[in-house]
Amino acid sequence: MLVVLRLRLLGVLLAIGMAGLSVASLAQDKETVLKNRQETMKEQGKDVGAVKAFLDGKGDLAQAKTGAANLTQTTKKIPDLFPPGTGGPNPTGDYVAKPAIWSDWNKFLEAQKTAAAKADALLVAVNSGDKAAIEAAFNDLGKNGCGACHTTFREKIEK
Ligand code: HEC
Repeated sequence: MLVVLRLRLLGVLLAIGMAGLSVASLAQDKETVLKNRQETMKEQGKDVGAVKAFLDGKGDLAQAKTGAANLTQTTKKIPDLFPPGTGGPNPTGDYVAKPAIWSDWNKFLEAQKTAAAKADALLVAVNSGDKAAIEAAFNDLGKNGCGACHTTFREKIEK
């Protein structure tokens, strides 16, 4: 009897210990997710900047090409940057990932696919070297790609 009780107690203790562990690793995971997300978004900011620099006559076409090519890759990775349970304010950033990302996941995916298509179009324009075409594709990506998603799914942290 006593042995059975002891075993049960051991089982309970083990279960509690394991739950504690998985909570700790979940927290660790969220931290990693938020860090990767922020790094990727910042990287996109830099890549957009490389195209902008070319348009402003401050950067060369080769760098604009690299930036645009990177954007076609990073915009496709966005869904992986937002696993469920990783909403809320980014502790090292200025933004909140809104709950609508997960409650309206299809709409979020639509916004991501739109941005990815516009990044593809920007790369085509940059590769053509035609400045007017690059400018049009650049503005379209900024406003209707990155900007549209940010307006709906991102919020500035009030500090
Ligand atoms: C499908 C939605 C979506 C698209 C498309 C998107 N973003 Fe974001 N972006 C977000 C969300 C949500 C956040 C806030 C996430 C966070 O802070 O953890 C964010 C945050 C950012 C940040 C702030 C990072 C920081 O913490 O300093 C930058 C910069 C950024 N995005 C740039 C871009 C650029 C440039 C593009 C287009 C090439 C883009 N994003 C496309 C959803 C998107």
